[in-house]
Amino acid sequence: MKHPVKRSWAEPYKMKMVELLKMTSRPERIKAIKDAGYNTFLLNSKDVYIDLLTDSGTSAMSDNQWAGMMMGDEAYAGSRNFFKLEKAIQKFYGYKYIIPTHQGRGAENLLSKVMIKQGDIIPGNMYFTTTRLHQELAGGTFADVIIDEAHNANSTHPFKGNVDLKKMDALVKKYGVKRIPYLCIATNVNMAGGQPISMQNLKEIRAYTKKHGIKIIHDMTRVAENAYFIQQREKNFKNKSIRDIVFEICSYTDGATMSAKKDALVNIGGFLAVNDWDVFEEARNLVVVYEGLHTYGGLAGRDMEAMAIGIEESLSDNHIKARVGQIEYLGEKMMEYGIPIVKPIGGHGIFVDAKKFLPHLSQDEFPAQTLAAEIYVDSGVRTMERGIVSAGRKPDGKNYYPKLELVRFTVPRRVYTQAHMDVIAESTFNVYKNRKSIKGLKMVYEPKYLRFFQARFKKLK
Ligand code: F0G
Repeated sequence: MKHPVKRSWAEPYKMKMVELLKMTSRPERIKAIKDAGYNTFLLNSKDVYIDLLTDSGTSAMSDNQWAGMMMGDEAYAGSRNFFKLEKAIQKFYGYKYIIPTHQGRGAENLLSKVMIKQGDIIPGNMYFTTTRLHQELAGGTFADVIIDEAHNANSTHPFKGNVDLKKMDALVKKYGVKRIPYLCIATNVNMAGGQPISMQNLKEIRAYTKKHGIKIIHDMTRVAENAYFIQQREKNFKNKSIRDIVFEICSYTDGATMSAKKDALVNIGGFLAVNDWDVFEEARNLVVVYEGLHTYGGLAGRDMEAMAIGIEESLSDNHIKARVGQIEYLGEKMMEYGIPIVKPIGGHGIFVDAKKFLPHLSQDEFPAQTLAAEIYVDSGVRTMERGIVSAGRKPDGKNYYPKLELVRFTVPRRVYTQAHMDVIAESTFNVYKNRKSIKGLKMVYEPKYLRFFQARFKKLK
């Protein structure tokens, strides 16, 4: 036998406890998805076998984090867990002033209220649902400045999260810097398929914004995953640690919103971090209105302790290699089966191109919503729509028609095994084989905000 050349990634942990899952039958799943209005967000999780709805708040915490939960200092004010969290954020991310929030959107709300005024334009490297809504509710308008390649599922650009400086400059010329409170950059851009921004691009946008006096706010929800791609793909970063790369990324920005439910490996929590005292001062004042006192922001002491520990764990090179390695494994399996996915493979999940998968459906028949429901029926694997339903409506009431119509297979951190990944790819292939007979959906209930969470659908005949 030949010696293997390949050296596989593997998990830098072992299992100490398991959660038992229910296996359902196909008729049970047909009924469950119908009752859920063909919206995977409305399924009961007890009816789900492998849950890829989101990587948000679904991570498995480590023994150290669980031990930390016992060290919760549940004081209303000045909990020692807050000071530990504050230190961790300052040490690993380099931001000066920290306000904990119950999760990412809590931080987005505070930031938008403090920094955006009526009529402002907020450029960003692709929208995110909650981020854009908070910008709009504060009177602003989001403007997409991501490179064109990000909107093309087939482009293999290694840094599809990059900002197109020409688009940015056109906005500055058109509206003037006074109407642009900040440039919002996300790392490992969620809606583009988990695609990274390069360090080179970050340096360029820092130089540009410095010249024009524009701030950069960093949506750092998945910063460690972005750092991994920089380490793997960008010149001069091969020998740098994830920890150092993350610190450098943050150094080119003026503040951050964080949903710690993703990279920071906790089930709940987030924060706003800024370097500017005036912004901090105002946000610290507002947090007591919306979240809680500025030393807990809607969290228990134990939650802040678990977050402080999770931040450090998330920056381990071994952790992130296995994390992204698992996703690459799933993506490669999908490609072997010929399933159309967004390339390059992203940092937090696989994004299946529903327009290509179901070319006989128009975007108004909700191809991605339909496909997510079909995959659930096939195997109990729960995915989610990232297409026209998620994109919602413009302030004038018209639908956004996003170029990307995707089904997101989001992989929770440290939760599933390679065998689970096999089952997911096999099920998707089974649906792919029978795709021609799949009919679309009609929306029968549409909520006003973030409709993808609660909308209901009926099957078209
Ligand atoms: N920014 C990004 C890039 C996100 O992906 C999310 C959440 C948020 C902000 C908001 O954070 O949920 O803690 O309030 N994304 C989840 C997802 C919901 O499934 O992608 P939150």
